[in-house]
Amino acid sequence: MSVIKTEHLTHTYSQGTSYEQAAVSDVSLEIESGEMIGVIGHTGSGKSTLIQHFNGLLRPTSGNIYVDGEDIWEKPKEIRRIRFKVGLVFQYPEYQLFEDTVYKDIAFGPKNMGLSEEEIDQRVKEAALFVGLKPHHMEKSPFELSGGQKRRVAIAGVIAMNPEVLILDEPTAGLDPKGRDRILGQIVEYHKERKNTILLVSHSMEDVAKYTEKVLVMNHSRVAMFDDVETVFSRSREIESMGLAVPQVSRVFLALSEKGWPVPANVYTVEQAKTAVEKILGQGGGANA
Ligand SMILES: Nc1ncnc2c1ncn2[C@@H]1O[C@H](COP(=O)(O)OP(=O)(O)O)[C@@H](O)[C@H]1O
Ligand SMILES: [Mg+2]
Repeated sequence: MSVIKTEHLTHTYSQGTSYEQAAVSDVSLEIESGEMIGVIGHTGSGKSTLIQHFNGLLRPTSGNIYVDGEDIWEKPKEIRRIRFKVGLVFQYPEYQLFEDTVYKDIAFGPKNMGLSEEEIDQRVKEAALFVGLKPHHMEKSPFELSGGQKRRVAIAGVIAMNPEVLILDEPTAGLDPKGRDRILGQIVEYHKERKNTILLVSHSMEDVAKYTEKVLVMNHSRVAMFDDVETVFSRSREIESMGLAVPQVSRVFLALSEKGWPVPANVYTVEQAKTAVEKILGQGGGANA
């Protein structure tokens, strides 16, 4: 059974006014438990609007959402339960830190779930470890931390709720490349260890190629593609036409393939490029053979 399923999900902001705007249109999809999915699309394509439906933060204008087979709006009073199951880290989550210590901020979610002090303590410590926060950070004010560290606190706060599905909305926006790779690497580790479902919203095809297994491409409020990484990259030209930049190595191999070179058109890592080049140079031989 899919962990998240939508049927004809549509969301229109300010319906019935002159500001009416369809942000998500007729989206039907199924996400299987344990998948690591990249959600990509140009700014304004509807990524944030779509994912905010998965934990009941937004209510669809029409259509349905199922979490673990349950229509989440059938009992609107129980929507809080869905928020514990599907954890969402907002874009720029550091603006939502408000407690006077890092520890209390991470503990906020688990506390709300009504867990015992002991269980909360264990979860806070585990979550902090996952995101690379050190024990000496825990009694600091979140406001004394660097941008990247604040981001880690916010992510830890959601991880501490141990959600079945973890959704991160552009978790590396505004971070330098080193901070970006560290956070994404930690998310991959978390996925490997917990085996839970992860949705990583990004506008970087490079990150999606590097860190996820399946890609959901949004374009003008609709799902344009939802497939494994290889298949999506075999449609690189279409992706570019949607205003998304594909990795440089993909562009080179796509051009070579279009010029008739016997190379795959869906290369997206340097490792794949190396293998393809070695193949042309003589079955893994080449200059060093
Ligand atoms: N709170 C809102 N009120 C009205 N329009 C919104 C709101 N949030 C987003 N939109 C509009 O909905 C569309 C999709 O936005 P969004 O879901 O934020 O896309 P993305 O996350 O892909 O950048 C955009 O046209 C955006 O301007
Ligand atoms: Mg967004």
